[in-house]
Amino acid sequence: MKPVYFENGALKLIDQTLLPTEEVIRSYTDYREVAEAIKTMVVRGAPAIGVTAAYAVYLAAEEFKTLPTDAFMLHMKDACEHIKSVRPTAVNLAWAVERMVVLFKNPVGRNPKTAVAALKAEADAICEEDIAMCRAIGEHGQKLINRGDTILTHCNAGALATADYGTALGVIRAAYDAGKNIKVYADETRPLLQGARLTAYELAKDGIPVTLITDNMAGWMMKQGKIKCIVVGADRITRNGDVANKIGTYALSVLAQAHRIPFYVAAPTSTIDFGMLSGDDIVIEQRDPDEIKYIKGQQIAPDGINFENPAFDVTPHQNVTAIITEQGVVSPPYYRTIPRLTIKDR
Ligand code: MRU
Repeated sequence: MKPVYFENGALKLIDQTLLPTEEVIRSYTDYREVAEAIKTMVVRGAPAIGVTAAYAVYLAAEEFKTLPTDAFMLHMKDACEHIKSVRPTAVNLAWAVERMVVLFKNPVGRNPKTAVAALKAEADAICEEDIAMCRAIGEHGQKLINRGDTILTHCNAGALATADYGTALGVIRAAYDAGKNIKVYADETRPLLQGARLTAYELAKDGIPVTLITDNMAGWMMKQGKIKCIVVGADRITRNGDVANKIGTYALSVLAQAHRIPFYVAAPTSTIDFGMLSGDDIVIEQRDPDEIKYIKGQQIAPDGINFENPAFDVTPHQNVTAIITEQGVVSPPYYRTIPRLTIKDR
C-alpha cells in the first residue's frame, strides 16, 4: 500500500482523512497544495511526510524552472521554507527538504534546467530508500518478537505512514510473515483515530489478527498479561534516545515499565535528529481544539471550556527498551549507541 507516489507528472496521495470508509487518491502538481495536504493530514506519518515534502520541492522547481537563476534560487528558498514549516515535530519533513536543498549547492542544482531532473531523481531516491529502510527495520525487529506474542501498537506507523510497509507495522508484518503467529492490539489513538481508521484497516487488509481498543484500555490489558510487548514508531528521536511520537505514547511507556513489558521504538535513521541533544528541545505541534471538541462534525463537549491538543509527547530514553533502525537494533545507553549509527551523506 503506497500512500505517496509520483505518476504521469503528478504527485498522488491516498487521502488518509477519508479512510477507512473511502479510498480516494488525490493528484497534485502545485507544491502549495502539497504543503496544505501535509498540514491537513491528507498524508501523515513522519517518513511519508518526508517523501511527500521531497516531491513538493521538485514540483516547485518545475514551476520556477523558466526563471533566471537568481530568481529561481530565491523562489526555491521560499518554497522550501514554506514546505518545512507546515508541521514542526516530525524531523523527516525538514530532513527531506534539507536533502533536496543540498542539491542547489552544486553546479547542476544551481542551473534551473538541470536542477529539475536532479531533484526528481533525489525525491525518487528518498522514496525508494524509505521502503528499503522499512523492510530492514522489519527484519531486524521481528527477531525481538516471540512466537505467539500479542503486540500493542499506537497511532499508525504502517505502510500509510511511510512510503510502504511501515516501521512498527513493518516489524509486525515481518514477524507475521516469519510464521510467528502473532496478534496485535491497536490503540484507537484519539483525537484523530489513526489506530482505528488506519492501523486496523491496514492490518485487516493483510489478514493480520488485530483487536481494536480505546486508549484508556491499554493499562488494563497489560495488567491482565494480554500484552507481551509494545512497538511504536517515532516522529523525532534525539541524540540521547528521547522519542517524540503520537500523544499517548509516553503514557504507554510508563505503563510498560510498571508491568515490565518491553517497549520498542521502530524508526529509520532519517527520524533521528543527530543535532538535537535531548527531547526537551523538541517542538510539539499544537493542533486545532475542534479535533477534540467534535467527532465527525458532531459536537461532544460543551462550549465555553478550554481545550489542549498537543499532537505528540516525548518518551524519555529511560523508558525505551530498544530502538529498531534499518542499521540494526540500538540498545541503551543511547548517548553512546546512537552517534555510532552512520548518517547518509547529504
Ligand atoms: O500526526 P500523525 O498521524 O502524523 O502522527 C504519526 C505518528 O505519530 C507516527 O507514530 C510516527 O509518525 C511514526 S510513522 C512511521
